Amino acid sequence: MRIDVVTLFPEVCEPFFQASIIGRAQAAGRVEIACTNLRDYSTDKHHTVDDRPFGGGPGMVLMCGPVFDAVAALEAEDPRSATRILLTPQGRRLDQSLAGELASRERLLIIAGHYEGFDERIRIGLEPLEVSIGDYVLSGGEAAAMVIVDSVVRLLPGVLGDDGSAAEDSFSIVAGESEQCLEYPQYTRPRVFRDMAVPDVLMSGDHGRIREWRKQQALERTKDRRPDLMTGCEPDSGGDQP
Ligand code: ADE
Repeated sequence: MRIDVVTLFPEVCEPFFQASIIGRAQAAGRVEIACTNLRDYSTDKHHTVDDRPFGGGPGMVLMCGPVFDAVAALEAEDPRSATRILLTPQGRRLDQSLAGELASRERLLIIAGHYEGFDERIRIGLEPLEVSIGDYVLSGGEAAAMVIVDSVVRLLPGVLGDDGSAAEDSFSIVAGESEQCLEYPQYTRPRVFRDMAVPDVLMSGDHGRIREWRKQQALERTKDRRPDLMTGCEPDSGGDQP
């Protein structure tokens, strides 16, 4: 997979993409991620990419020219067809199912805006998939781009060492179905920490009982914290998918 991120602040995103699981995925050739500075596509000597809104009002609006030119240049670099993504609080809310859909694409081209918004003709002309990472307004799309890339890259085949780990996450997608359970509680050494002991069942070595306990815990947790997810969280679809 190839992912391009068009941003005014590539220096914010680049270190994140070099670190940890995403960095290792790139080193292993599972994904190639490139950040492009939108200012490289401005056409004046001041590297302008935004202007005041027609009709008045506060803030600045990203101009069409640099965005269209950046998209055209990046798309011409690679024959794989790119899914264009525009980051905006007005977009489809990112969830695990959307991350799964995006992970199946050959190429993503993510446009992170800044300032008050985009010239509407960017939406009309480029027909991007508009994506929001939640119902709040960020001052720019960079944090949203990092969230999307992270949620997508970890789903690519071979990226997580243990093939079960992505499937066992809260909100994992198994066999094309949305398994909307929260994850069961996890423990590691030491066995007792400040008088808090690891549940006996986890020390029993009885994998059947452990599986049942985890299912039960995942269900209770989901019911307690996210009752809205319970319809996708059937009694036998706990946090322990194969
Ligand atoms: N840009 C500003 N706020 C955003 C949000 N919530 N999601 C995606 N992009 C954004």
